[in-house]
Amino acid sequence: MVDRRRFITTASLAAAAAMANARGANGKGTTRRSGTPDRSRVWRIGTPPSIANLQLVMRDTPTPAADEVLVRVAASSINARDRGIVAGFFPIGANKASIPLSEGAGEVIAVGANVSRIKVGDRVASCHFPRWVTGRWSPDVYENDIGNTLDGWLGEKVILPESGIVVLPKEISYESAATLASSGVTAWHALFEIARLRPGQTVLTLGTGGVSTIGLQLAKAAGARVVVTSSRDDKIARMRELGADVGVNYRTTPAWGDRVRELTGGVDVVLENVGRPTLDESMNACAPGATIVMIGTGPLPKELPKMPGFYQKNLWLKAISNGSRQMFEDLLGGMVTMKIQPVIERRFAFDEAIAAFREMEAGDHVGKVLIRHG
Ligand SMILES: NC(=O)c1ccc[n+]([C@@H]2O[C@H](COP(=O)([O-])OP(=O)(O)OC[C@H]3O[C@@H](n4cnc5c(N)ncnc54)[C@H](OP(=O)(O)O)[C@@H]3O)[C@@H](O)[C@H]2O)c1
Repeated sequence: MVDRRRFITTASLAAAAAMANARGANGKGTTRRSGTPDRSRVWRIGTPPSIANLQLVMRDTPTPAADEVLVRVAASSINARDRGIVAGFFPIGANKASIPLSEGAGEVIAVGANVSRIKVGDRVASCHFPRWVTGRWSPDVYENDIGNTLDGWLGEKVILPESGIVVLPKEISYESAATLASSGVTAWHALFEIARLRPGQTVLTLGTGGVSTIGLQLAKAAGARVVVTSSRDDKIARMRELGADVGVNYRTTPAWGDRVRELTGGVDVVLENVGRPTLDESMNACAPGATIVMIGTGPLPKELPKMPGFYQKNLWLKAISNGSRQMFEDLLGGMVTMKIQPVIERRFAFDEAIAAFREMEAGDHVGKVLIRHG
């Protein structure tokens, strides 16, 4: 069901704007004049949901509630799951958000009455689980999931909960920051929180998409040897330019796990960016004691996984769901010191969002597909 809470009437917006002006220039509320409600555009998920049915609409810009901020969006980017949400086939919590996208970045232009950690003018991004600030994962955080159960970033001005907001270091551009909340935080969580990667270890990262590419960059910067797999030799060549040490084409080498083990002696960490369909080959690629982090949500294959070497090699298999705000802040610090620039394959204008989703659907990208809102 669509959350219509955001689409307030012109009359109530004007009243809110008048109240905000009455509060004075203290950084709270909006700076609009009474009676002249601000209007801005958003892309809404259509009915029935499909990429072709995305709707570009003008609305009265909402006023943030007490614990929310209003952000003028500079850039956003698309993840595999966003495509599923827009097209109506993402299994968890879908069809509650009206505005898609869990990754973006921009400038705070108004804050709610109870907001104290964030101020107008801050350059920000947001976690996609704003209730997961620190500590261990709890499935409850799914109830608040930006771009899935809560409205997301695909608007000129969007409302976000303060609890998920991270302030960007000056060294991180809006475009870089807009690629991180999903892919970057997930790769950071997997490599450094779960696998506790050490220099000299070997990391296998599957595919050449958003998670795999930032995973490669982070692992290389941390001193690891990195192996990638792809369906295309040209994509493997791109990943080598980005620092990959070994590449194996999983189309032309169906037993790619064995091949990776032959070439490397076995990997210590796997970023399993596909999921259950590729688990057996990932296990074949592993050295004894390796950690496989389940990131991809691919379906259970018809033939059940045999999990080769799971017991014999004492493998560790761990699923993760994105990461906490603390992990996002740690990632941003790491990006500054490691001097990492995320890989952005193509940039689309805000009006071209449908073409950007089609680009993701085509699967020709290495890294990220970005939307510029300015
Ligand atoms: N658990 C989490 O918190 C979390 C967070 C973010 C994403 N994810 C999941 O992680 C996956 C990747 O997301 P993304 O945003 O990076 O997607 P993406 O940019 O669309 O990339 C998808 C990649 O999957 C690769 N691929 C497909 N089948 C493959 C196979 N059999 N072997 C190896 N690679 C294969 C493709 O590689 P080639 O084109 O090179 O062949 C492509 O690069 C998705 O399933 C997504 O839902 C999970």
